[in-house]
Amino acid sequence: MAFPQIRNRRLRNSEAIRRMVRETSLSPDDLILPLFAVPGLDVKLEIASMPGCYHFSADLLAEEASAAFQQGIPAVLLFGVPSARDEEGRQAWDDDGVVQRAIRQIKRENPQIVVITDVCLCEYTSHGHCGIVENGIVHNDRTLEVLQRIAVSHAEAGADIVAPSDMMDGRVGAIREALDENGFDNTLIMSYAAKYQSAFYHPFREAAGSAPQFGDRASYQMDPGNRREAAREIITDMDEGADMVMVKPALAYLDIVSDARAVTDLPLAAYNVSGEYAMVKAASASGWLDERRAVLEILTGIKRAGADMIITYHARDAAKWMRETSP
Ligand code: PBG
Repeated sequence: MAFPQIRNRRLRNSEAIRRMVRETSLSPDDLILPLFAVPGLDVKLEIASMPGCYHFSADLLAEEASAAFQQGIPAVLLFGVPSARDEEGRQAWDDDGVVQRAIRQIKRENPQIVVITDVCLCEYTSHGHCGIVENGIVHNDRTLEVLQRIAVSHAEAGADIVAPSDMMDGRVGAIREALDENGFDNTLIMSYAAKYQSAFYHPFREAAGSAPQFGDRASYQMDPGNRREAAREIITDMDEGADMVMVKPALAYLDIVSDARAVTDLPLAAYNVSGEYAMVKAASASGWLDERRAVLEILTGIKRAGADMIITYHARDAAKWMRETSP
């Protein structure tokens, strides 16, 4: 049979029919809200490159996390912007560090909120690289020891999930070992498994002050031209014991998200990064995009490609719009 007996448009006859046959739908459950922790009290400062996102001190950050949780968003992902930086990124594993304090404050406010922490050095090192630098080179194995310390310190503060984003080899296994040795066998690892060297991190680096002071991240983050290599990265991290894996960025890498879905049965996250957010915000502010429709379409696309979880700065707006949209 063919046209006119077959008419694909019948399945689009009414909104109710379209709802019945929709293959992908969004829920606040899918979302993870990234938040930036800074020192101090009562601080809420808008980030210039990311309108609608803020630097929060621990007290206000915990309020923001609670408000998101009330909207149905189960988890937050924490980044720290410390008061001082040094060669080794010491504040990253300080028990009294910005992230550690934020974790404790959130857990005091509401222990049910899932707290994920970014485990990396770039926000804490004076050179802005994601690892320990020796003779101008980011040293893989020396970095692992430091990542272990950071992950354990986040777990001690109460983090549910640690998320290493540095792209060193062997980090998932090293972190798993350190967590288990310290009695944190229940702490999950969400690995930034396939993280590309991307122009779309630019607004984040302004927000976190984490741009590399020399060179770039091409010796550790993935080359944007590579597709098969992403599968290899994901398999390596699964073998090392990752509980969840991530593809980052999302929009220019939806083929990678789709491949990742086929490669692993683990829960899969995609990171709708700062540059993707900034593009939508700028175009919407100019009246060139309908922000609400653009955001929901982007999130649907990321989920349709295969992501179970979407890390997005749009999370709170999107959760609100999802509730308004459902009848
Ligand atoms: C590294 C890290 C980065 C992002 C998350 N973790 C920046 C980078 O790799 O330079 C980017 C997130 C975003 O752009 O939204 N700790």
